[in-house]
Amino acid sequence: MGITSMHVGARRSTLLELVAVATVLFGCAVTAASLQVGYYNNTCPGAEDLITTIVHGAIRNDAGNGPGLIRLFFHDCFVRGCDASVLLDVDPTSNATVEKMAPPNFPSLRGFGVIDRAKLVVERRCPGVVSCADIVAFAARDASRIMGGIKFAMPSGRLDGRVSSANEALANLPPPTFNITQLIARFATKNLTADEVVTLSGAHSIGRSHCSSFNSRLYPQIDPTMNVTLGMRSRLKCPAATGRLDRVVQLDFKTPLQLDNQYYKNVETHEVIFTSDQTLLDRSDTAALVAQYAASRKLWSQQFAAAMVKLGYLDVLTGAPGEIRKVCNRAN
Ligand code: HEM
Ligand SMILES: *[C@@H]1O[C@H](CO)[C@@H](O)[C@H](O)[C@H]1NC(C)=O
Ligand SMILES: *[C@@H]1O[C@H](CO)[C@@H](O)[C@H](O)[C@H]1NC(C)=O
Ligand SMILES: *[C@@H]1O[C@H](CO)[C@@H](O)[C@H](O)[C@H]1NC(C)=O
Ligand SMILES: *[C@@H]1O[C@H](CO)[C@@H](O)[C@H](O)[C@H]1NC(C)=O
Ligand SMILES: *[C@@H]1O[C@H](CO)[C@@H](O)[C@H](O)[C@H]1NC(C)=O
Repeated sequence: MGITSMHVGARRSTLLELVAVATVLFGCAVTAASLQVGYYNNTCPGAEDLITTIVHGAIRNDAGNGPGLIRLFFHDCFVRGCDASVLLDVDPTSNATVEKMAPPNFPSLRGFGVIDRAKLVVERRCPGVVSCADIVAFAARDASRIMGGIKFAMPSGRLDGRVSSANEALANLPPPTFNITQLIARFATKNLTADEVVTLSGAHSIGRSHCSSFNSRLYPQIDPTMNVTLGMRSRLKCPAATGRLDRVVQLDFKTPLQLDNQYYKNVETHEVIFTSDQTLLDRSDTAALVAQYAASRKLWSQQFAAAMVKLGYLDVLTGAPGEIRKVCNRAN
C-alpha cells in the first residue's frame, strides 16, 4: 500500500485523519527507525565513553568478558528483543522463572557484572537516563572492537522491559544441535537471513563452550563430521559422556582471543565445536559464504558489524511499557 492510496476517492482529509493514517501505515517503521547514533549526546554526554572505559578494563582483567558480552547481546536481543530482559533477577509481572536461569543461559552466560558496573558509573553521571538495553548493546560493540578491531557505531535509544521468562529463552535461542535448515528458520523468525546466520556465527571465533554443550558429538562416537584430531583432543578435555561437564574448551583453538575469520577456516577443516557451526557447509549458499569469509577477514568484519547493528534493532522497546531501570538486574 502506497501513499497514493490515501487519496483514493478524492476524499478531503483533515490533518488529524492524515496523521492517523500515517500512524497506521508507518507506525512500525517509525518505531524501528527511532534508534539513533549518539542518542545520549545531549542527555548524557560522555556516557558511551564511560561504558567503553569500563568494558576495556573488564576485558583487560579477564579476556572472557569479551565473548561473554557479545553473547549477552545476542541472547538479550533474541528473546523479547533488545530490552535487557536477560538481566532481570525477578519478573515483577509474574512469578515466572527468568531468562537468565534458562538452560541456554545458566550457568554459561557471563558479563553481567560488567554491565552492572557500567550502569553504576553512568547512573552517577546522569541518573535515570541511559537504559540497560543500550549498555548491553554498547558493550557488545566495544567488545567487538577490543577483541577484533571491528569498529562500528551502535544506534541507541532502547528502553528496558519488565518481563523475563525462561520459557521464552528456551523457545527462541537456537540450540547447538540445530542443523542449517533449523538455524535459518529460527533466524527468519527474527527477520535475519541465511547470510546473517553465517555472518553472526563468526562470533564463535572467540570464547568457550562447556563440555555439556557438545558432549553428544564426542560420545559414544566422535561425530564423523568433526575433525578426528579435534575430536580426540576434546575428549581429553571432556572426559566421558557424563564426567566433568562443567569443564570448558575454546571455540577457536587457533586464535582464541581474536575475533577474526579464523572461525570460517575452522569450519572448512571441520575443526569447530558445535553441529550448528559445522552445518554451515550443508547448503551450497551458506558454504559459499563460509569460503568467502575464510578468504577475507575484511569482508567478514564489515558484514559482522552490519549484522550486529541489525541484531540491535530486534523488537526494540521505545515506548510504554519500557522504562529506564535504576539498576540492571531489577525492574523499577
Ligand atoms: C547460530 C546459532 C548459535 C548457536 C546454536 C550458539 C550456541 C552457543 C553455545 C552452545 C555456546 C557455548 C555455551 C557454553 O557452553 O558455555 C556458545 C557460545 C558463544 N556464542 Fe553462540 N550460538 C549461536 C549464535 C551466536 C551468535 C549470533 C553470537 C553473537 C553474535 C554468538 C556468540 C557466542 C559467543 C561469543 C560465545 C562464547 C561465550 C563465552 O565465552 O562466554 N553465538 N554459543
Ligand atoms: C551525536 O554526535 C555524533 C558525533 O558528532 C553525531 O555523529 C551524531 O549524529 C549525534 N547524534 C545525535 C542524536 O545528536
Ligand atoms: C507471586 O508469588 C507470591 C508468593 O507465592 C504471591 O503472593 C504473588 O501474588 C505472586 N505474584 C504474581 C504476580 O503472580
Ligand atoms: C534438520 O533437522 C530437521 C529436524 O530434525 C530434519 O527434519 C531435517 O531433515 C534436517 N535437515 C537437514 C538438512 O539435515
Ligand atoms: C519482521 O518483519 C515483519 C514484516 O516487516 C514484521 O511484521 C515483524 O514484526 C518483524 N519481526 C521482527 C522480530 O522484527
Ligand atoms: C583436520 O585438521 C587438520 C589440521 O588442521 C587439517 O590439516 C585436516 O585437513 C583436517 N581434516 C579434514 C577432514 O578437514
